Amino acid sequence: MAKTPQKLHIKTFGCQMNAYDSERMAEALAGHGYAPTDDPAEADLVILNTCHIREKAAEKVYSELGRVRTLKQARKARGLDTMIAVAGCVAQAEGSEILDRAQVVDLVVGPQSYHELPSLLGRVRDGKERVVATDFPAEDKFLSLPDRPVSRAQPSAFITVQEGCDKFCTFCVVPYTRGAEYSRPVAAILAEAERLARSGAREITLLGQNVNAYCGEGPDGRDWSLAKLLKRLAGVPEIERLRYTTSHPRDMDDDLIALHGDEPKLMPYLHLPFQAGSDRILHAMNRKHTAGDYAELVGRIRAARPDIALSTDIIVGFPGETGADFEDTLALVRRIGFARAFSFKYSARPGTPAASLPHQVPDKIARERLHILQSLLEDEARAFDAATVGRKLKVLFERQGRKPGQIAGRSPYLQAVHGDGPKDLIGQIVDVDIVSAGPNSLTGVIKSEFEWREPVQAAV
Ligand code: 5AD
Ligand code: SF4
Repeated sequence: MAKTPQKLHIKTFGCQMNAYDSERMAEALAGHGYAPTDDPAEADLVILNTCHIREKAAEKVYSELGRVRTLKQARKARGLDTMIAVAGCVAQAEGSEILDRAQVVDLVVGPQSYHELPSLLGRVRDGKERVVATDFPAEDKFLSLPDRPVSRAQPSAFITVQEGCDKFCTFCVVPYTRGAEYSRPVAAILAEAERLARSGAREITLLGQNVNAYCGEGPDGRDWSLAKLLKRLAGVPEIERLRYTTSHPRDMDDDLIALHGDEPKLMPYLHLPFQAGSDRILHAMNRKHTAGDYAELVGRIRAARPDIALSTDIIVGFPGETGADFEDTLALVRRIGFARAFSFKYSARPGTPAASLPHQVPDKIARERLHILQSLLEDEARAFDAATVGRKLKVLFERQGRKPGQIAGRSPYLQAVHGDGPKDLIGQIVDVDIVSAGPNSLTGVIKSEFEWREPVQAAV
């Protein structure tokens, strides 16, 4: 029989939604006697929460499982049992194949079945069966997951409000791994946000694969848009900052754009992938927008909120991409000017339409293009950061910095900022004079009232 409390180690790959899911899994299992551990060698249960978005995802999971098998054997020599679960998008995509290829795995669980984890693990333990749970159940998993504990929210917290994707970009696995678009009801999101706010969260980032397609049931029985949801959340006094990610250009409606101008709690930063700058490639990607549409949209967003910083995702080497197509991507980057960007070499994902397109771009060319694009993006990012030197920015401090006496947080534009300051400022939004910009973060001098109020209080 297993001892209690059991130790749980979750290793997370991929996006913020996976990070959120890992937290929720840990919370769900906490109620069943599992306490988290950072040390996999101490874990009675190891969960790999996997990502399938790009290259060799499944291969990475199998090599990770090789390491886990060694751990399991070492624990067995100490007389300890270890359960191994594979969760996330590779679990969803590969299903029972994982059990066939990796004998060490006890459970394969897709993202829509996390609320069933305790009972699935029970089946594994009691029946000694190996279990695969990758159906898309009809019920809302979030309603069945336990409420989040109120004790320990991060200053900057995440809430998944929407999951799945109906857009079917031809390169992307998400519609297959995360399923159809689904939006959580407003009341559930609001309750979660209020709980997080009460336990210390000052910033909430709403997550969704297509977050701005959010269309959830409101308390009035009507469907609420993301703009309406954000407006409601802005009414929670403890929540001082709101963000959302990831958005699709086609779902940036007028209300959402206007909200960027009207709602000071909505941060002036927007992640808006465009993927490619050539209309021919955009068409082949099934993006249903042109480069011109994107630039026009950004113009409208900037008209509403002139200081907004943009970030984006870009793919190079999509099948059929010519040198001229790639130049169009560079041209769009120059035209918009990004504060930050994530760029990727196209990777053929099994089962997606683009994987079987002719004219796959040779790897060497795709690499060269990625290199050129990344150096342009890096220049833009540095220019953006350099332009904030000399400004005073409001920073939400989230943690201690690397050096003693330092604290670190984020500017409204999501730049990492660090400076010397007391730990008490963690969890607060403070005025900071930005004095220099390094490659990964800004350095600031903290200028809060707090700083000079302290000696006054001490003198009383
Ligand atoms: N190849 C390369 N990049 C991809 N992305 C999604 N699918 C692929 C793929 N097959 C990128 C897109 C997306 C980001 C999350 O990952 O740019 O916006
Ligand atoms: Fe990876 Fe996409 Fe799945 Fe997130 S949703 S884990 S990015 S495949």
